Amino acid sequence: MVVSSVTALTSSPPAHAAGATTLGAAAAGSGRYFGTAVSLSKLGDSTYSTILDREFNMITAENEMKWDTIEPSRGSFNFAPADSIVSHASAHGQRMRGHTLVWHSQLPSWVSSITDADTLRSVMNNHITTAMTHYKGKIYAWDVVNEAFADGSTQLRSSVFENVLGNGFVEEAFRTARNADPSATLCYNDYNIENWFDAKTQGVYSMVKDFKSRGVPIDCVGFQSHFGTSGPPASFQTTLSNFAALGVDVQITELDIAEASTTAYTDTVRACLNVARCTGITVWGIRDSDSWRTGENPLLFDNSGNKKPAYGAVLTALGGRSKSRGVANGSRIVQ
Ligand code: G3I
Repeated sequence: MVVSSVTALTSSPPAHAAGATTLGAAAAGSGRYFGTAVSLSKLGDSTYSTILDREFNMITAENEMKWDTIEPSRGSFNFAPADSIVSHASAHGQRMRGHTLVWHSQLPSWVSSITDADTLRSVMNNHITTAMTHYKGKIYAWDVVNEAFADGSTQLRSSVFENVLGNGFVEEAFRTARNADPSATLCYNDYNIENWFDAKTQGVYSMVKDFKSRGVPIDCVGFQSHFGTSGPPASFQTTLSNFAALGVDVQITELDIAEASTTAYTDTVRACLNVARCTGITVWGIRDSDSWRTGENPLLFDNSGNKKPAYGAVLTALGGRSKSRGVANGSRIVQ
């Protein structure tokens, strides 16, 4: 196990972001992106889309690229909802993360009821290949496999993929994905892998280390980062840097923090900025009312679309400044 010391989270924001007044531009100052999950049903809401197109330069479809939408019945593909989001991104100069190809959840019952290994292997590979071919050249990074590890464990969770195909399904999915779109960044994505000392973190680390040593094509690990009120664990930066040292990019892929304290958001952004291969941050929604955790007020904009104090904290940490009041102030709402 590699444990490096935790760098103090006090580094200066990137000087090259100075002057940037939006999250995306500030992140771009250090060569990173700042993204959000987007729900197609909200794109017609002008408050929502105005913030989206002003602040964010990476988009993840919140649900529209999941298996139950993309392939609701075998061999019958429905790309229309996701295509609309990809078109929006293309029209506004935003890149896309693809989420997600192989996941035990939001999986149609025709897949979860398969018991024959040859059938499931063929179905899984066809799903990956068809989706990635459809979006070839339009997706920067794909979450090829999502949440395959069991909570509190170093082992894979029970799922139709694990139960019918065994552990090898993860490797097979990545090999298929590389063939389908060789230029896409291929990610393994999971939650509760931010604390270096958790068994689940160690399980994923061992898998990535093994994949890299055997030439299994993996380019990136996504840390969902659904945090409680205290924000990231103290070891978060250590976790990011230890994974990066294996030769993969690391990304914060679904960030939200209960009650959105400025300190917790600042710590999270700094952990990424302090790791060269942390290539970007995505928050899991725009306004609190858009969040799957809406009662916890975990995002950067309030229900009316106003910037919350956490917004200013993130902008400051990224090295940007607010338009009207000089350097973004994390302690009050900035417009
Ligand atoms: O689209 C149907 C609609 O037709 C129906 O009337 C309605 C009734 O409940 O449900 C709608 O589907 C919902 C869907 O979101 C779209 O709104 C599902 O019930 C609901 O379960 C689903 O929740 C999503 C959840 O993943 C499902 O697992 C959340 O929006 C989405 O934010 C969340 O995202 C996940 C990531 O993909 C993976 N990591 C964890 C993260 C949070 O759970």
